[in-house]
Amino acid sequence: MKEILAELEHRRETARLGGGLKRIDAQHARGKLTARERIDIFLDEGSFEEFDMFKQHRCTDFGMDEAHIPGDGVVTGWGTVNGRVVYVFSKDFTVFGGSLSETHAQKIIKIQDMALQNRAPIIGLFDAGGARIQEGVAALAGYGEVFQRNVIASGVIPQISLIMGPCAGGDVYSPAMTDFIFMVRDTSYMFVTGPDVVKTVTNETVTAEELGGASVHTTKSSIADGGFDNDVEALLEMRRLIDFLPMNNAADVPEVDCHDDPSRLDLSLDTLIPNNPNKPYDMKELVLKTVDESDFFEIQAGFAKNIITGFGRIEGRTVGIIANQPMVLAGVLDSDASRKAARFVRFCDCFNIPIVTFVDVPGFLPGTAQEYGGLIKHGAKLLFAYAEATVPKVTVITRKAYGGAYDVMSSKHIGGDINYAWPTAEIAVMGAKGAVEILYRSELADKDKIAKRTKDYETRFANPFVAAERGYIDEVIMPHSTRKRVSRALALLRAKKVAMPLKKHDNIPL
Ligand code: HXC
Repeated sequence: MKEILAELEHRRETARLGGGLKRIDAQHARGKLTARERIDIFLDEGSFEEFDMFKQHRCTDFGMDEAHIPGDGVVTGWGTVNGRVVYVFSKDFTVFGGSLSETHAQKIIKIQDMALQNRAPIIGLFDAGGARIQEGVAALAGYGEVFQRNVIASGVIPQISLIMGPCAGGDVYSPAMTDFIFMVRDTSYMFVTGPDVVKTVTNETVTAEELGGASVHTTKSSIADGGFDNDVEALLEMRRLIDFLPMNNAADVPEVDCHDDPSRLDLSLDTLIPNNPNKPYDMKELVLKTVDESDFFEIQAGFAKNIITGFGRIEGRTVGIIANQPMVLAGVLDSDASRKAARFVRFCDCFNIPIVTFVDVPGFLPGTAQEYGGLIKHGAKLLFAYAEATVPKVTVITRKAYGGAYDVMSSKHIGGDINYAWPTAEIAVMGAKGAVEILYRSELADKDKIAKRTKDYETRFANPFVAAERGYIDEVIMPHSTRKRVSRALALLRAKKVAMPLKKHDNIPL
């Protein structure tokens, strides 16, 4: 009996070593942790239950019958994050470069199925070289089955991908279908085809970092939702993110103890808006002063900075925040900002996370670059996303809400539940200057006349009261009471139920 127990321990030890000490050292030398070290940091201590530790590939080609490593390049199982169940798979780069074989895929598929069946989030930690080259179509079949499960689980359980090393070929498309992708700066990169293929096909010379590093995907392509400086920071931030997320689409948002008075007033907000309407201010300040303890998990902080998206809590319960940022491009809606916010709104709606929108938007960005780039379709994404979202929607207009962008930004007309405006709000078809230039074109030469016309237009429309008179704004509120008003509105809406007509699915303009 003793020998049998010892044999198990020995087998476990061997499996835990993955590709061996030399490769583990190489992994560390690159500033990366191993697959198992990553899981240990991500999950609550001692909570990891591993599956399929001894699973091995069945490939016999290219000498693979001689090369067997238990676990086959991926560590899978489940554990807890602050007591809540989460499924995890972690690619082991020390074993055949973390490449995906038929059996490696089966391990991932097993936990995808369990996560879906048991309605708990799943996170993948990526550090791999794509399809196992020795296996050919068997590996491609494995990817296909992983992809299919990503899609079936989409909108049912949160799916998160953390890229912590190479991520190429088939490995990029599974993350691309998950809810969020995060990357580790300098050690991770994602691309469909690597620098060598790029050189051959397009004759471009580019490094892996330039082609698909975190700096590219968090700022240019918007593939990644955020970047972190090292493995430890990334994993701890993933724990923080999980804390904000519901377990599944039928679960309520998580509720944590709230040590921040929901009725807290903040007098500094009364002077947030500058006297000059063209002067920017930092909308982030309002976001941080509204959510519990200024705890805000920003999504896509480095991309389309003219709109802010992220998770916070009000009275201990998760909310999704969307806010125009006047500091960047005056907070205008362009294609990138629209796409960014639309995807975030849809995530919140999938998972019953109430949406709080702060509005200061001068309209959609004019110009050929935007129009040729499909602004109509991208803007429509955000409009569509807000209009179809049935979660509680609370909106606060702080300053400008002009034109179509007024409608789009969670207005009453597309289902905003509670719409507030600060007394500084200006709700109009456009700014006074632009309006006067169109209405009084023949008087443009007469500066005094135009100044008077502009003043008249401002007096008539540069305020929230015309909209409030019509009931489009439920109440004009004091800036300092924003947190209190938002938290009361959310409490009121907690049991909101809206039935949309039955359909197979909508046809959002993609
Ligand atoms: C088998 C692989 C492998 C793979 C790496 N290895 N990728 N084995 N299949 N796809 C092995 C290497 O042979 C090596 O083994 C070990 O992993 C470490 O790899 P290195 O090349 O030494 O490491 P590094 O220099 O860091 O380079 C990492 C890498 C590179 C950039 C990922 O290995 C690479 O380019 N791999 C191939 C990537 C690729 O083209 N994959 C196929 C994509 S096609 P030893 O024993 O020497 O240590 C695809 C199609 C799916 O995925 C499409 C589905 C839609």
